[in-house]
Amino acid sequence: MRTVFWQDGQVQLIDQRVLPAETVIASFGTVDAVAFAIRDMVVRGAPAIGATGAYGMVVAAQSSPASDGPALLADLRAAKAVLDAARPTAVNLSWATARLLDVAQAAVDAGASVDAVRAALLAEADALADEDVEINRRMGFHGAAVIPDGANILHHCNTGALATVDFGTALGVVYACQELGKSVHVWVDETRPRLQGARLTAWELMRAEVPMHLIADNAAGHLMRTGQVDVVLFGADRVAANGDVANKVGTYKLAVVARENGIPVYAVVPTSTIDLSLPDGDHIPIEERDAREVTHIGDTLIAPEGVPVYNPAFDVTPYRYLTGIVTEEGICYPPFTQSLRRAKEAAEARIVAARRAKQASV
Ligand code: MRU
Repeated sequence: MRTVFWQDGQVQLIDQRVLPAETVIASFGTVDAVAFAIRDMVVRGAPAIGATGAYGMVVAAQSSPASDGPALLADLRAAKAVLDAARPTAVNLSWATARLLDVAQAAVDAGASVDAVRAALLAEADALADEDVEINRRMGFHGAAVIPDGANILHHCNTGALATVDFGTALGVVYACQELGKSVHVWVDETRPRLQGARLTAWELMRAEVPMHLIADNAAGHLMRTGQVDVVLFGADRVAANGDVANKVGTYKLAVVARENGIPVYAVVPTSTIDLSLPDGDHIPIEERDAREVTHIGDTLIAPEGVPVYNPAFDVTPYRYLTGIVTEEGICYPPFTQSLRRAKEAAEARIVAARRAKQASV
């Protein structure tokens, strides 16, 4: 199941707003439309948002009237600002748009025509999307190594194929366990207010025939205290240099209760989610979203009309609550300042080597 792809000159996205009732592919062909799709959560999940942002830069290049390199670069910089502002917490978005802008700059510096720059951007966005799937599979199998056969896994939000280009981060670990023949069972947090667990994770796991139960978010503590959880897994939207993790609101409470009950906790993240420029989680911007997400379920009002609402979409789990951070380069353990830097360097070296190999084969 590919969540994000390019077809007919537009970004194609599985519309996550209407799942699980309907499976609809929606097309977006302007920068403003792509930014809207990210902001309104047609697409969501840090890696999927990153790939969408990359294709958003392709849309910007294709729709730009520029006839020379500098004018095209100016339009791309403007598009990057619009796309990056769509959702502030997931660093994969600005990471991906920066990667596309770098490719455009290098092509312009090398004297490429405007059409050649456009083609280079589409090739880069496709490469980034393909890499995401490959990275997720590697991450999934690294993570599966620490999941015991028969484990009960507690999972928050949605981190599966829908939250990435395909396969997933924390749910990728579950899928890898399944491929390895390990039997696992997943407790699926409903994940209020947008219900990504109930609507998306439950849908994905049922399709994949993974044993699971949907639980109310408030049931998680009871399950942990009564010995029904062996490991807690979640993804992340940004990881600071010290290992503090920003993820869907509610993650922090899970990690604290897991520590109280001696249960291991792993964040599962591609290295593109690690932001070494931020020393700790207090520097991660936390997105605040519309009050309607809290006051309504679908179109049904569940609170008094006009009630004041505070709706932070993410929280920060301090690094001391994490057993490890699973990446495509292996599992990072404390001290995270060192292990995360090593993982990031290994991933960058891998990308450079892959580019050299590709150039040599042309
Ligand atoms: O607000 P969302 O649905 O985009 O939040 C997504 C999450 O918090 C995911 O758990 C996170 O991106 C993990 S990575 C797949």
